[in-house]
Amino acid sequence: MSSTIANFAAVLPSAGSNLVIEERAIPSPGVDEVLIRNHAIAVNPVDWKRQFLNLYISSYPAILGTDVAGVVEAVGSAVTLFKKGDRVLGSSPAIATNNLDHGAFQTYTLVQASAVTKLPDSISFKQAATLPAAISTAAVTLFHVFDLPLPQPEQQQEPSAATGADTTRTNKKEAILVWSGASSAGNAMMQLARLAGLTVLASASPRHHALVRSLGAAAVVDYRSPTAVTDLAEAARRDAGVSEIRYAVDAISTAETVPLVLDVLAQAGGDDDGSKEKTKQKLAHLLPWPEEITVPNGVEETFVKGYVIWTERRDLAASVFNDLLGRWLETGEVVPQAARVIEGGLEGLQTALNVLREGVSGEKLVVEL
Ligand SMILES: NC(=O)c1ccc[n+]([C@@H]2O[C@H](COP(=O)([O-])OP(=O)(O)OC[C@H]3O[C@@H](n4cnc5c(N)ncnc54)[C@H](OP(=O)(O)O)[C@@H]3O)[C@@H](O)[C@H]2O)c1
Repeated sequence: MSSTIANFAAVLPSAGSNLVIEERAIPSPGVDEVLIRNHAIAVNPVDWKRQFLNLYISSYPAILGTDVAGVVEAVGSAVTLFKKGDRVLGSSPAIATNNLDHGAFQTYTLVQASAVTKLPDSISFKQAATLPAAISTAAVTLFHVFDLPLPQPEQQQEPSAATGADTTRTNKKEAILVWSGASSAGNAMMQLARLAGLTVLASASPRHHALVRSLGAAAVVDYRSPTAVTDLAEAARRDAGVSEIRYAVDAISTAETVPLVLDVLAQAGGDDDGSKEKTKQKLAHLLPWPEEITVPNGVEETFVKGYVIWTERRDLAASVFNDLLGRWLETGEVVPQAARVIEGGLEGLQTALNVLREGVSGEKLVVEL
């Protein structure tokens, strides 16, 4: 059990400035909040975008960050699922609230109880910190935007011992393309999509193909290959037995990637038997739609607003974070992304943001406290 120590925060004093370490009072939880003493904090692209592009910040100073893992220090009066001393991960709502006490980049962070997961002993804080934003983005995309039914534990199937892939699902005709399976969001997206019963197809750099397959992709192609689109459409038919790719997620969502994803959807659009109006294929994008790209008639596009997990979809947060994720981590049905520790604790967060801004490949940057 942790003993109380002082709260230090990596504060963003003004738009575009570097983080500064300051001492702050330890916050007290509201009725439905959990106070976490952080042992690991991960950085996400939205953090450097908030710092340098002034996104999702209503006033300064601000405290960035969403992903924490640590030990529960205190709980609000309505919280029954967690108690002081529990090892947990949490997804902080700071992007939605702009409340400094919610920022992840400090020793103690307040999070909504609905976005907290109790950790099995097998999962370290470093591993756990890689999960909150990725899991919540995947959950919002699959179970809110696409409105797929949440996986029920009794319906979930064990990954195959050899590959981790769920070979029993490869004949399913409902398929999803995850463009950028090695990204943090893509990594979680593939795992939750597999658990939701979809056949998963993905793109990634070749060095991540074994990992992407182990997470459940029935087929994966190199997104840099000039034949990526046809390779994927062919692999879908040949390796995955898929005639139509019904869903797609573009985790990169640039003017370069969106046309490729649309081409795959067009080539794997299924058979139109002419008997009824064809159901649209659904494309979720994690960044705003590139203006220069026209949306085809047969495709419904949606910009994923991950922050709904802390606002109108706290019910979804509770289902995933309170009920499902702990079980998935215990059974190994969900595995954390590879974590790279940036040294320096809170002082290391600025370095982590700078490194992330330059670009990472198949890993999450984490600091340890
Ligand atoms: N809308 C929302 O709610 C929401 C939520 C979360 C994230 N996002 C946004 O989604 C994006 C991804 O976030 P993240 O944390 O998952 O990023 P990340 O893990 O930092 O992404 C790194 C990965 O991007 C891949 N990549 C780079 N260029 C690519 C391309 N042209 N095609 C395919 N893959 C490519 C690389 O794959 P390889 O290693 O295979 O080369 C690399 O592993 C960010 O822009 C983030 O701001 C939005």
